[in-house]
Amino acid sequence: MTMFKIFSQTDSRTIPASPDDTVLEALHKAGIDQIHACGGDARCTTCRIYIIEGLDNCRPRNEKETLLALKMGFPENIRLGCQTRIDGNITIKRPVVDKLDLEIILRQFDNLPGTRLGQEKDLAILFADIENYTPFAEAFPAYDVVHVLNRYYQTMNEIIVQHNGVISDVAGDGILALFGLIEESDNPVLDAVYTVRNMNRALTRFNEYLFKMYDWSFTIRSGINFGKVIVGNFDTGTMHKISAIGDAVNIASRIESANKDFGTRLLISQSAKKKIEGLMRPEKFHRARLKGKSGEHLLYEIEV
Ligand code: FES
Repeated sequence: MTMFKIFSQTDSRTIPASPDDTVLEALHKAGIDQIHACGGDARCTTCRIYIIEGLDNCRPRNEKETLLALKMGFPENIRLGCQTRIDGNITIKRPVVDKLDLEIILRQFDNLPGTRLGQEKDLAILFADIENYTPFAEAFPAYDVVHVLNRYYQTMNEIIVQHNGVISDVAGDGILALFGLIEESDNPVLDAVYTVRNMNRALTRFNEYLFKMYDWSFTIRSGINFGKVIVGNFDTGTMHKISAIGDAVNIASRIESANKDFGTRLLISQSAKKKIEGLMRPEKFHRARLKGKSGEHLLYEIEV
């Protein structure tokens, strides 16, 4: 079979490539660890390569690559390694190479079971907010507010972890938790619902403390969605967190906000409800317009 040559300026190496292999496959066969977060499906851009010479020897972009390139505004010479095949020699540069990048990537693969760089998973996404947090934060000194929040996070984190969940983010009084990343979870939505119930139970005890100390009490509003999420370990060296990105995450946040309109404590989406059909019966349903989303959405109220 005719073999072509790929010269990688980044690695100072010439490697062989058959017309059947994508550039990514040729790099991997040569032992060059080019990242490919989506697994080579033209849904991320981490496998991108810069064609320095021989653009005419690259076959035209296929449909998937064309769509992604248009979305990203890639010039002609930036190609997806996982989609590009060649009919002649080329010279390339790869963008992800320095020691820090490699360390970060290797650490990312060592972390929580089930998370990898940019992995796409079906997860239950829980947003939980404290309803009357802002007046509390305005009424008491910052030290007290931070102390109370830390106590709240610690209490709730224990419950989330007990139900196979993981906190992805906290912002002010809000918690974003993910269920389904850990293998033991048979039904991530059920785990998320039980978490909310136990969080509310723990809140009753928490409020005894809050009332005694500050003459105050909190209530929690929660929203659960089920859908595709891109999860990855975000690591700055001193700070580490599992980030979750995707429309399903935004929708979960909007569902949590919708509790305000209906005076409810826990609302779940239709996709989440499907996952617990026959196991749990919603109290009632509400038709809601979610901010930034078109049309009406059915949300189901679950007793806490
Ligand atoms: S590996 Fe994700 S687009 Fe190529």
